[in-house]
Amino acid sequence: MDEAPAGTPRPGQSDDAVDGVIRTRALTKRYRGGQLAVDRLDLTVPKGSVFGFLGPNGSGKTTTIRMLMGLIEPTSGTAHVLGHPVPRAARTVLPHVGALIEGPALYGFLSGRDNLLRYDAADPTADPRTRTARVAAALDRVGLTAAAGKKAKAYSLGMKQRLGLAAALLRPRKLLVLDEPTNGLDPQGMREIRSLVRQLASDGTTVFVSSHLLDEIEQMCTHAAVMTHGRLVTQGPVAELAAGARGRLVVTTPDAGEAARVLKEQGVGDLVVTGDRVSGQVPKRDLAEVNAALVTAGVRVRGFGVQRASLEDAFVALTGEGFDVAG
Ligand SMILES: Nc1ncnc2c1ncn2[C@@H]1O[C@H](COP(=O)(O)OP(=O)(O)O)[C@@H](O)[C@H]1O
Ligand SMILES: [Mg+2]
Repeated sequence: MDEAPAGTPRPGQSDDAVDGVIRTRALTKRYRGGQLAVDRLDLTVPKGSVFGFLGPNGSGKTTTIRMLMGLIEPTSGTAHVLGHPVPRAARTVLPHVGALIEGPALYGFLSGRDNLLRYDAADPTADPRTRTARVAAALDRVGLTAAAGKKAKAYSLGMKQRLGLAAALLRPRKLLVLDEPTNGLDPQGMREIRSLVRQLASDGTTVFVSSHLLDEIEQMCTHAAVMTHGRLVTQGPVAELAAGARGRLVVTTPDAGEAARVLKEQGVGDLVVTGDRVSGQVPKRDLAEVNAALVTAGVRVRGFGVQRASLEDAFVALTGEGFDVAG
């Protein structure tokens, strides 16, 4: 099917460097029961990004990923992956995509290595002559070489997730799609997966990773999209999303009570006092004047500054909701 010269987008095919490795337009899924799980989603995932798909449980992340992987049909709207329409061209696209969706399916009675051999053998486009070497390389990549001969049922949850990642890495991929890869892991397991994702991204693979954990996305991703109730709230570079939310004025002082009184006079709203730390909304007026007023009132100021907003601040500002961190 490849008669157009390399680099020339054919009609109906986009250049994914420009239009995104993943691009959806008004993508919508209403389940048979009537549940509107994804509502007119417009997503653009830039090439080379580590793209966090962030939202509380039930916000439509897995449903979106299943549509992108051609596992379920959208109700309406379109999706392109690596420039090809899905689900129509899923068979062309999917060999270039490594996916880990809702926990890997493993055979507990087989070793980690044998699980991968069997998984690869089930892929008609995988070369059997290089199978053993590719399985060994993937095991090495995720740090499972030493445990490769153990039965998968003896693996910890973190090891199982890593084995699932290894399955996604059996062949060179342009895109990795990981649905909540740290779900259910302990903090150590989560750190391992996060650092693995960063490593994978450092050699140019685009990674699309969903999570309901804000700080995780903030630590791991260059870009993010925020979902709530099936709708996209915002998307863009993580640094810009966080900067979109206003930071807070933070004053450290042994005279916290007096400082709060002066700050209130100066028009600082939403004051919170914890120990020697007073914080509030950044006022419209010149901060030099606010600082001078504190000093004039005899408040001993140790620290004075605007704390950078986090992605969490942005989320709360955008949705008016707290974030379900424990989820
Ligand atoms: N197979 C299904 N049939 C009906 N409703 C579903 C199905 N799968 C998910 N849902 C509903 O769709 C919404 C989005 O679910 P999901 O995509 O799994 O969200 P997330 O992955 O963000 O937790 C939820 O309200 C969920 O209950
Ligand atoms: Mg999910």
